[in-house]
Amino acid sequence: MKTKQFFIFSFVLLVFGSLHAQKTPIYLDNTQPIELRVKDALSKMTLEEKVKLCTAQSKFSSHGVPRLGIPEIWMSDGPHGVRMEILWDSWGHAGWTNDSCTAFPALTCLAASWNPEMSALYGNAIGEEARYRRKDVLLGPGVNIYRTPLNGRNFEYLGEDPFLASKMVVPYIQGVQQNGVAACVKHYALNNQEKWRGHINVELSDRALYEIYLPAFKAAVVEGKVWSIMGSYNQIRGEYACHNNLTLNKILKGEWKFDGCVITDWGGAHDTKQSAFNGLDIEMGTWTNGFTSNKAFAYDDYFLAKPYLKMLKSGEIPVSNVDDKASRILRMIFRTAMNVNKPYGSLANEEHHNVGRKVGEEGIVLLQNTANLLPIDASKYKTIAVIGENATRKLTEGGGSSELKVKREVSPLQGLTEKFGAAKIKYAMGYASGEVAYDRVLKPKYNTDSLKAAAVKLATESDIVIFVGGLNKNTQQDSEGDDRRSMTLPFGQNELIAEIQKVNKNVVLVMLSGNAYEMPWIKQTTTLVQAWYIGSEAGHAIANVLSGEVNPSGKLPFTFPVKLADNSAHAFGAISYPGDSINQYYKDDILVGYRWHDTKKIAPQFPFGYGLSYTTFGYGKATADKKKMSSDETIEISVPVKNTGTVKGKEIVQLYVKDLKSTEMRPEKELKHFAKVELNPGEERLITFKLDKTALQFYSDVKKDWITEAGKFTVMIGASSRDIKAKVDFELQ
Ligand code: GLC
Repeated sequence: MKTKQFFIFSFVLLVFGSLHAQKTPIYLDNTQPIELRVKDALSKMTLEEKVKLCTAQSKFSSHGVPRLGIPEIWMSDGPHGVRMEILWDSWGHAGWTNDSCTAFPALTCLAASWNPEMSALYGNAIGEEARYRRKDVLLGPGVNIYRTPLNGRNFEYLGEDPFLASKMVVPYIQGVQQNGVAACVKHYALNNQEKWRGHINVELSDRALYEIYLPAFKAAVVEGKVWSIMGSYNQIRGEYACHNNLTLNKILKGEWKFDGCVITDWGGAHDTKQSAFNGLDIEMGTWTNGFTSNKAFAYDDYFLAKPYLKMLKSGEIPVSNVDDKASRILRMIFRTAMNVNKPYGSLANEEHHNVGRKVGEEGIVLLQNTANLLPIDASKYKTIAVIGENATRKLTEGGGSSELKVKREVSPLQGLTEKFGAAKIKYAMGYASGEVAYDRVLKPKYNTDSLKAAAVKLATESDIVIFVGGLNKNTQQDSEGDDRRSMTLPFGQNELIAEIQKVNKNVVLVMLSGNAYEMPWIKQTTTLVQAWYIGSEAGHAIANVLSGEVNPSGKLPFTFPVKLADNSAHAFGAISYPGDSINQYYKDDILVGYRWHDTKKIAPQFPFGYGLSYTTFGYGKATADKKKMSSDETIEISVPVKNTGTVKGKEIVQLYVKDLKSTEMRPEKELKHFAKVELNPGEERLITFKLDKTALQFYSDVKKDWITEAGKFTVMIGASSRDIKAKVDFELQ
C-alpha cells in the first residue's frame, strides 16, 4: 500500500475508532472498574432517576434506569432456597410452573454442622439457584442470635454464639456472591423475637450489642464483603433499625466501612428525613396509606419517593444525600445484574440436592444412644414402626417468608422405607397438628385419640419404633410473625411418647425443629436425635444417619434448657421478654445461652456444642507454646485428639477462653475457636489453635471500646461447652 494511502486509512480508522469509543459510555464499558462506571452512570442520571433507585416498583423489585439501560433489581427470599415467584403487587404466589427449587437445610442445621466448608457449598448452590431464577439479591442469610427458645424464627439463624455464627456466615455469603447475586444478611439488628417485631424498642448495653448481637453482622460485612444488609423491623434505642443513626451510619457505614446497600425489611421504613439521613438506601414493602394496606400504584407515595424528591428539590436535603444512595445501588447493580462475568446458575439439580443432603447429614445431632439402638441394623428386626406426623409432613412449606415450593421433598418415612425396605416399615401418624396458617392456629381435622390409640397399638406389635416428631412451620411454632407460647412439644406428643415408651423399650426419638423443647420423657429415653429441618433431602439424610451409612458429627448450636425459666431472657420478667409491648430491656446483657448457664451454674438438658458419634474420641494434654504473651503476640494451643472407636468419624474440637480476673464481669467461658476433624479408627492428630488478643478482649461499657486487660487466662478444650477435656493457663502481659 502506498504511504499516502496508508496514512489516509489509519486516519479514517482513528476517527471511527474514537467515535466508536465515545458511543460506548464508561458505565456500559465492562472493561472499566466498577467505581468509574458508578461515577459515570451517576453523572448521566437526573435527580428523579436517582430518587427512583431508592424505592420498590413491585413487591420484590426496585427501579432501574430504563432510559440509560440500567436494569431493575430483582430480589427474592430466602435463606434456605429461592422462594416461588410472588405476584407483582401482593404477597400472593404467582403460580409459575418453572420456579420449583431445592430446599436446603434450615440454617440452624448448617450451624450444627460446625463446618465452614458446608457453608461454602451451601452458599454456592443456593447462589446458583438464585442466579438461574434471575434474582440479583437473595434475602438471606439470617444471623440474629438465639436469645430465647420461643423466637419463631430461630430456625432461620445460626444459633446462640457470636463466634460460631461469625465463622459460619462468611463462606455462605461468599458462595452466594460468586454467582453475581448479592446476599442480604438480616435482620440488622436485635430482631431476636417475632412478638411485636414491627415496633418493639430494644434497649441494651453497648457491651451486649458489640459482644453478642453485632459480631456475626460485622463478620458478614468486613470478612464476607456482603453486598447488602436488611434493616430489621424493630427499634433500637428509640430509632427504627431501618433508619438508625447508631447502627447504620456510625457502626455499619462508619466503623465497618460497608459499601453496599441497606434495604428495609418489608414495611420497615417510617419517615422520609430519617430514611434520608439515617443510612437507608432502598425502601421495600412500605404500606403507603397509613400502614394499613397496600394501595395500587402507591410506590410514588413511598417515603423515599415523592416526599424525598420534594425535600431534595427544596434544598431541605442536599443532593449529595441521594448521590450516596444511588452510588451504592448502582454499585450493587454492577456487581449483580450488570456483572458480565456472572455464571448462568442452575436449578434443583442433583448436585444441589446432594449439597442439601450432605449439609443435613453433617448437621444432625446424636444426643443419646445409651442402648446402642443406633445405627439400626434392619436385619435384626421384622417390624420397624415409624410413628409421628413429622415423618410425612411437608416441612418446606409454611414458616413465613422462608417458605419454599420444592421440586422434591423426601420425607423421613420415604427415606426410611427406601433404606430399610417397605416390608419392614409400618407407619402410624400418632398425632396431628392442623394445616399451615400464617396468622392463626388451626385445629387438626383428625380425632387425636384414635390416632394415638393406633400408634400405641403399632408400637406394641413392632420390634423397634422410630418416632418422628418435634415442631413444625405453623404459627406459634417455628414460624415468622409470632413466637411460641411455651417450650412444650405441641399436639400431645409428650403423652404419646410416654405411652409408646411404656409398650416398647426400643424407641428412637427423632425430633425435627429449629428450637429447643422441654423433654419430660428424657429419663425413659435411650435414643434421641435432633434432626432439624433438612429440606428436600430430609428423608435421605436422616435414613443415612440412622442406618450408620453416615456417622453423625453435628453439635448443638444452641443450649437446650431443662425448662424455659432456666433461659437468660426469661430470668428477668416480662420487661426482658417479650417486653411491655413498647420497650424491651435485654437484662441478661452478655450472658446469653451457655454464657448464662455456665456463669449462673444452671445445668442444661443438653449443652451448647454437644453431640455424639458412633465412634468415640480421646483427648490428650493441652499445651501452649508460651506461658506469657504480650498483646501484640499470638499464642498456640495444641491438643492431640484420637479416634478411640471402631468407625471413622468427625469430631468438633472447641476452644473456650476464661478470663480469671478482670475489672468488669466476664462469662465463665466464651467460644473463641473450633475445628472439625475427620479421624479414622485409631488415628490421632495434633490440633493446633492460634489465638491473638482479640480472643481475650471484652467491650467495656465504661471505656466504650474493646479492652485488652493483662492477667491470667485459662484455655479450655471441650467436646462441648460443658465437657471440658483439657485446660492450659497462660498470662497476658
Ligand atoms: C419479611 C421478613 C424478611 C423477608 C421480607 C420479604 O417480613 O421479615 O425476612 O425477607 O419480609 O419477604
